[in-house]
Amino acid sequence: MDENFKALEFKNGELVLIDQRVLPTRFEYFICKNSKDVAFAISDMVVRGAPAIGGCAGYGVYLAALEAKGDRSLFLEKCQMIRSSRPTAVNLMWAVDRMMKKAESCGYEPSKLLEEADLIVEEDIAMNHKMAEIGSSVIRKNDVILTHCNTGALATCGWGTALGIIKKAHYDGKNIHVYADETRPRFQGARLTAWELVKAGIPSTLIPDSAAATLIRDGKIDLVILGADRITAEGDVANKLGTFALSVICKQYGVPFYSAAPTSTIDFNMKKGKDIPIEQRSKDEVIRPGGVLVAPEEIDVYNPSFDVTPHQNITGIITEKGIIRPPFDLNIERIKNGESI
Ligand code: MRU
Repeated sequence: MDENFKALEFKNGELVLIDQRVLPTRFEYFICKNSKDVAFAISDMVVRGAPAIGGCAGYGVYLAALEAKGDRSLFLEKCQMIRSSRPTAVNLMWAVDRMMKKAESCGYEPSKLLEEADLIVEEDIAMNHKMAEIGSSVIRKNDVILTHCNTGALATCGWGTALGIIKKAHYDGKNIHVYADETRPRFQGARLTAWELVKAGIPSTLIPDSAAATLIRDGKIDLVILGADRITAEGDVANKLGTFALSVICKQYGVPFYSAAPTSTIDFNMKKGKDIPIEQRSKDEVIRPGGVLVAPEEIDVYNPSFDVTPHQNITGIITEKGIIRPPFDLNIERIKNGESI
């Protein structure tokens, strides 16, 4: 049951993106004709979600190689522009580095780079389906699941991570119900997850972020599943702002708390969550949601896009290689070494 939409698709030499800034009120495409357009689309969040921006970055590097016409320093400059278009989701750096490595090994042959970018997309979709299979073991019949932000087909190259697991449970007839946090300030839950849930016909309820604590305390939630933008070697997880607070409430009330992500989201070189660079976004996102002023313009604003959940608050991290459970550092090390967990 795959979707009839694609967050990203490379065709006729252009990267075609669903413009996630205007969903669900408008369904529009944004066309990237060059590497600069790709970097802009990532930083302005035309496309968002860690695996989706990784997929876009692959095509961005391919376009950069075409534009550089063999000028290596120009190519590196363009790769750096893409690499720095957002700081937190490591899939972006992972994809750029993979493409640059490929460029070195194939002598900057554009057709080989396009193949590699396509491969990143294909692998991501395959990893998502594998994760959905593996993750189905944590969802029982009639479970009520809470999720945060958007981790579906829109956030990935196809199918989704946490939302992919949830969709599979629904299609498997588990009679689940989903509570989706609206996810302030950009409303990825309200605008994007709700759109995907309705499209998939999954029984669901949209809630203000601050309603989650009461639902969890009152025993209305069986488990939480959400995504990740970067997972450290010790198992700390950076994800959309609000994730950390949810993890604390789940721990307090004994509700299982899962993060789901492909292993391309693991930053094996970073040990601790405190070292993850957290993107700070504009004041306007907070005081002018949807373009409507809701606060005095003079007010100071703090708007981190992500927060870090310590591994101590996490029940398990669902990946395409299995569910990573404590001790997270040892099990992540096993994944790094290609061992089974
Ligand atoms: O700022 P966004 O919308 O890119 O943040 C997205 C998230 O935090 C997702 O949970 C994460 O990238 C996982 S997407 C499968």
